[in-house]
Amino acid sequence: MKRLMTMAAVLAAGAAFAGEKFELKGDAARGVEKYTMFCVSCHGEKGDGNGPAGAALTPKPTNFTDGANAARLTDEYVYKMVKDGGAANGKSPMMIAWGSTMKDDELRHVSAYVLKLKGKK
Ligand code: HEC
Repeated sequence: MKRLMTMAAVLAAGAAFAGEKFELKGDAARGVEKYTMFCVSCHGEKGDGNGPAGAALTPKPTNFTDGANAARLTDEYVYKMVKDGGAANGKSPMMIAWGSTMKDDELRHVSAYVLKLKGKK
């Protein structure tokens, strides 16, 4: 029975993986306000990770503009990171979860703004 349940879980995970491609559907222009309000203090106005509150942190807030991070910062990853925070994604807990502060569309807009700041590889 236990084995059957494990198999069912694996199948369910596979189905979720094979499912719809993630679509962010965010509007960067509508994300600026929240970014300025909640993210600038650490990630900086330009997204270079040099906000005043970020200076003392280790690891430092991510520099979104650094091309070396470009491949990692996919739409889905950024959205999950913003919504669920660093601790839930194997990253620094100093990157808190914003899922209870912002509505889903706001999370998507601010994620779109982060992706707009993102450097090219
Ligand atoms: C208190 C400082 C702080 C604030 C405020 C903050 N972050 Fe972060 N953020 C961090 C740190 C530190 C990391 C790096 C985590 C790591 O590398 O382990 C991070 C990582 C990230 C990442 C993941 C990038 C990567 O390199 O994996 C994203 C995306 C992100 N932040 C978006 C945001 C957004 C959007 C906001 C505003 C809604 C925000 N952050 C607010 C500190 C902050």
